[in-house]
Parts: sequence; structure tokens; C-alpha cells
Amino acid sequence: MSEPAETVGFLVAGEPSPEQRAALEWCAAAGIDVETISLAAVAGGDGRLAAYDVLWWHRAKPADDAVAEDASVPIEAFLTDGGGLLLSLRALEAVPALGIDSVGPDAAGTEEGTTGLLVKSLRADRPVFEGLEGLRVPTASPEAEQPFARYQGILPHRGAVLASTLRTDGERPHETALLGWRIGDGDVAGLGTGVRFDGPVPVPEAAARNRDRLLRNLLAVLGGGDRLLEHDPKGTPALSADRKRLADDHHRPRYHVSPPGNWLNDPNGLIKWNGTYHAFYQYNPGGPHHGTIHWGHAVSEDLVTWEDRPVALTPSPDGPDRDGCWSGCAVDVDGTPQILYTGGRDDVQLPCLATATDDELTGWEKSPENPVIKSVPVEPRLRSSDHWRAEFRDHNVWLEGGVWHHLIGSGIEDGGGTALLYTSEDDDFTDWTYEGPILSGEAETDGVIWECPELLDLGEKRLLHVSNYEEVRYYLGEYADGSLEVERTGLLDHGAFYAPQSLRDDGGRWLTWGWIKPDRSPEAQWDAGWSGTLSLPREIDLDEAGRLRQRPAAELTALREERGYDGSPALTDERHDLPLDSRSFELRAEIRLDDADECGLVVRGSPDGEEETLLRYTRESDLVVDRSASTTDHRASSEPISMPVTPVDESLSLRLFVDGSVLEVFANERHCLTTRIFPTRPDSDGIALYAVDGRAVFEDLEVWTMGSAWPDVGAESERESERPVGPEN
Ligand code: FRU
Repeated sequence: MSEPAETVGFLVAGEPSPEQRAALEWCAAAGIDVETISLAAVAGGDGRLAAYDVLWWHRAKPADDAVAEDASVPIEAFLTDGGGLLLSLRALEAVPALGIDSVGPDAAGTEEGTTGLLVKSLRADRPVFEGLEGLRVPTASPEAEQPFARYQGILPHRGAVLASTLRTDGERPHETALLGWRIGDGDVAGLGTGVRFDGPVPVPEAAARNRDRLLRNLLAVLGGGDRLLEHDPKGTPALSADRKRLADDHHRPRYHVSPPGNWLNDPNGLIKWNGTYHAFYQYNPGGPHHGTIHWGHAVSEDLVTWEDRPVALTPSPDGPDRDGCWSGCAVDVDGTPQILYTGGRDDVQLPCLATATDDELTGWEKSPENPVIKSVPVEPRLRSSDHWRAEFRDHNVWLEGGVWHHLIGSGIEDGGGTALLYTSEDDDFTDWTYEGPILSGEAETDGVIWECPELLDLGEKRLLHVSNYEEVRYYLGEYADGSLEVERTGLLDHGAFYAPQSLRDDGGRWLTWGWIKPDRSPEAQWDAGWSGTLSLPREIDLDEAGRLRQRPAAELTALREERGYDGSPALTDERHDLPLDSRSFELRAEIRLDDADECGLVVRGSPDGEEETLLRYTRESDLVVDRSASTTDHRASSEPISMPVTPVDESLSLRLFVDGSVLEVFANERHCLTTRIFPTRPDSDGIALYAVDGRAVFEDLEVWTMGSAWPDVGAESERESERPVGPEN
């Protein structure tokens, strides 16, 4: 490694502390050109700042806000001109006082057990991590008590997370350790954990090497060598750059609405506005884990191709949504879209309102009246949990008989989940009258909490669906006077599909998207750099017999690229490899078990069969996704997922969508099963059919390779690996 060329101004407030002296000795030993400069001198404008490339403030003790505030103007000017600033350990707490960010760290103190940094995989190629191996980087002695400052339950308003914390007892994605800000032409880094020079216990050799390397990198980058960050983390350029960076990950879906990177859960605020579809979603810009929930935003003109928009909703440090902007809906109120969402703060969750400030729905103004419902109802008594004084969240709003109806999900203390109704005759959405539950379930069969309740008007009947932590249950029946009379109940999906939300299209059809859960370990998600995706949009309605029907939205056929197979093969006790390889395709067929005991499909199979996923159609009228050999990675779930389908004397009408790690099955336009598979091998992209103990027919079998929903981003690699061939049989 070359000798550092930058000149460092080491900031002190008074006499250097033992920790600061040890840091200065470290600089001397590392050959870093360093001088101490007092914050008072900086504040007094002694003009010497221009002599430095980078300023470093390193403190084991809490920083004095007044001292930082006094120095903030010259430091800001220094940064704007391209200078760099490193704030380590508790100096990070000075971020608001220095004017770097309106939101400061929410956790500081001393602790034991920190071993180092957990680097974000999306940022691992930044120059600041050069020469460090892997994402788990020891830098500290876990036995020593260490000072720290971090953003834990919140994120900075403008800053970006580069790394989190590694502890002896595990990984802590939500404990941010390294953050970056761009101020004018300059960069600021905050390193709140894992750097200590004067500890009571020596830092193990390998950790000390990493610490030294990281600090040299930081000083070099901040000193002007490179950029710490590329972009503002919540703006479109940063999101698009993340999406591009992930384009070669063969687990990433190509034609689903996926997050640009980081974490996605529920679809939110689905609305068609001025001819454009808007899908918002629960998004954590901090990393691929749940926490500090914002609203991400994607738009589409055709329901098929999508574009990223800037992060739409951010928790307000002083607001009732400080700890997260949880799920909610968007409604057109007299030509202005409104969002109702759940704000969380401490152990309270209550409804909040925001109004669109532009036609692109990129700007949202939060109501000064938030929360717009001030407390939870007293009757029935609502269930509490370790986190929440009362579970009370998620919003579904519709207009009926000139009255706004508003459902909120909850659970009854010692009872089952419930969907609570509020009404309002007012368009300003701040005055809600509590009406009581429209339906409550049994704890054992229906679950103890109902999240994301939604009541859809399907013409003849109403459909209520709720997400009860495990599954999405629906209740079909008649709705009148604030109560649902249930006639039929079932599951919307039998797999990893959760917290769905719907929009009503121009033609009056309902389109429903769900969150497809990750189904692999937190470590695997961290390594991948992203987690979760939205399902394909489904059209939900009733068939002639009044049963629930679910079909992939008709527009999705526009994604088909090439027909790789077209025929009606019949198989007897054999397996037949289809002449195409793909990991993003649609397959449809009418499948008949003539006298076979079982038949099915193999997808994402490797040539030697080491990895393969089976869709097994059995005489028991079950469709089973057998994931026992889907992957050799033990961090992904291998549990089988099954669902009942039609009796075997009828044929099974199957539409299957495979997209990277996503598998969505529609059977007989009625039963759905969504799951995730994570093959490790790049050649796990074979497709085959099989029949066991007899004959089975795959009538009208078609396989289509599918294009990308993100046409601007990295669509090339998959296309190269496709080998579509003409019809057979
Ligand atoms: C469902 C859910 C909602 C909540 C949101 C938080 O997955 O738990 O109840 O609003 O996710 O992200």
C-alpha cells in the first residue's frame, strides 16, 4: 500500500485525551502527516483549515454540542470546497451540531462484545473497503469496553449506511457502524464503533490490521482520493445504481417489482393516477433487513415495465412516525391523492396522513394533525405485544354511500384477529368515527392479529382478506351495516405471499400484489444485499359459480420474449428434458394424470440433477413444490410447500412463473402458491417433465422466456444464457 499523501487536521476540544493521544501516535506510526487543531481555533476562523485535506475528530467521550456548533460554519465551508471529515466514536454525535444532518445518532454509550464491521454488500466495492476481506471485518477487541455512537432505530436524513456492527454474539444489521454524507464537494464519514487505540486489552493482530487499513482508506478517500458515496441514497440515481449492481445476481427477479436493493416488504399505496400505475412499498434504505421503514416507489405505464422513483416517505424525527412509516393505502380524494399509513413511535402505532404535492406523486406533505386518530378504541380491548401497547395498523379506505370507510388491522386481547372500521363524512381525513369490528376471527384458526385487512367489492360478494403472520386468509360474503356475513373462507395463497394490497383499475377490475417473503436466513439476505420482492399483479374476481378466481394480469403476456416450447407431450414412466434453459420464464399446460401415480415438472435443474426443484402433481390432488434439492445452500429453506388442487379426474390448468428465486403457481385460475428457491449453480436452469408409474399428458404445453420489467437495467446476461428452440412433438 502506498504511503498516505493527505494532511490530516486532528480536531481536539482542549487537551487531547488518552484515546486521542493514542490515535495521534497511531498516525505517527502509520506515517500520516497529522497536526492537532483545536475546535476553538477553527471556530475563531484562524484560517488554517485550508492547509488540510481531511479533518478527523475522534472522541471516546460525549462531544460538546456548543463547541461543535461554534465550529460548524468554517467546517461546512471546508467541506463544501471538497475537504473531508471523519467523525469517529462519539464524535459522531456531533452530526446535528455541525449541521451535517438534522438527525443525529439515537444510541451512544459504552459496550463490550463489538468485534468489528458488517459491511453492506452493495457498498463492498467502494474504495473505502479496499484491501479488506469479505463482509465481516473484525477491527476491535471484543473483551474491551468500547465507546460507541450509532443510528439504531432511525437513519440519518441525508446520510447513507456503509456498514453495520459485528458482535461476538452475532450480526447486527440495524446497528449502523459506518455512515457517509456528501456536503457540497466534500465527504463526511461517521465511524461509530469498532475503532479504539487505547483499550485496556490489546486488539488482536488481524483485527488491528483491518482497523488500520480501514482508517487509512477512510483518510485517503476523505482526503480527496475517491468518493465515499456515489449518490444521495434516497434519489433515483442511487437506486438505479443499486439495481444495476445487482443485475447479475441470478436470484434476482427480472420481471417482478423488486426493490432496487436493500429491504422490501408490503406493497403500499397502490394507485392508478393520471394513467400511471404507482406501486409504493415498505422499504429500508439501511440494508436488507426490516427496520427504519420508509416508502419506496416504482411506476409503470403498462403494468409490465417499471421505473424507480425516489423514496417517497421518510420517518420524521419529531413526528409520530419517527420509528417507521408502516403500511397504508393511497386514495384519490377530489383529485388529490392522499396516503393513510401507520406511524410508529416508541410503543405506539397510530394512523398518519400525507397529501401528494405533485402529479408524479414523488412529494408528500404530512398532515400537521398527525396522528389523525389520536388513540386506539377501548372496546374491544386490543392485543398488546412486547413492541406495541396495542397492535393497531395498516389501512384500507374506500368511499361507499358518500361516506369514507377505513379499516385498520388489529387483534382482540385473548381473542383472534380483527378488522376495525372507522367512518368519516369529511374529505380532509382527520375526523374519524369508530364503528367497531367488521369481522373478528378465532385465535386458533384465523390467527391472533390481522395485518393489512382489505375489503374488496367483487360485485355479488365482498372479499375480506387479512394477513395473520402465517398466511393470507380470505372471507367471502355479504357486507352490510359495518359487518361481514361470511359464506366461504380459504387462503389467497399457500406459500410466501403476504400482506397483499389491491388497486381498482379503470375497467373496474381488481389487481392485487403481495409481498413475497425472502425464505432464507438473515445472513444470506445480508450477503445478497437485497431481500423480498412484490408478486406479479393478479386479477381477482368471482367465477360463474361464485368462487374466488385469481389470474395473472392479462398484460403480463407482453413480457413474453420467445416461445421456447409448444406441444402436447405424453409421458409414460419417464423424464423428458425440454430443449431450453431459463431462469425467467412462464410455462402453461393442461396436465392430466391418465393412469400415472404422479407427474410433474422440474425447474431450475442443474444438468447432473444436483440441484432441482420439483412441482409434483399427485393422486392425492395435491400440488407440491418439493424444494429438498432446490439448492445446496443450507441458508435457504428446503421445506416442501403444497396446496390442494382439483380432483384428479379433471385436468390441472397450470400457469407457472419462474423468475430467479421466485416461483409463482396459478392452478385452475383459483389456487395460488408462491415460493422462493435459491439454486447456487449458474447452470441450474434446466426445465423437464416427468411421469411416474403410468402415463400423463401435458396438453398445450407452452414455455415462454420472459423479458425484463426493468428494461434499462442489466437485461443482457440472462438473454445470453437462454437457448430457446423451436416447437417439438
Ligand atoms: C405486514 C406488516 C404490517 C406493517 C408492516 C411493517 O407485513 O407487518 O402489518 O404495517 O408490515 O413493515
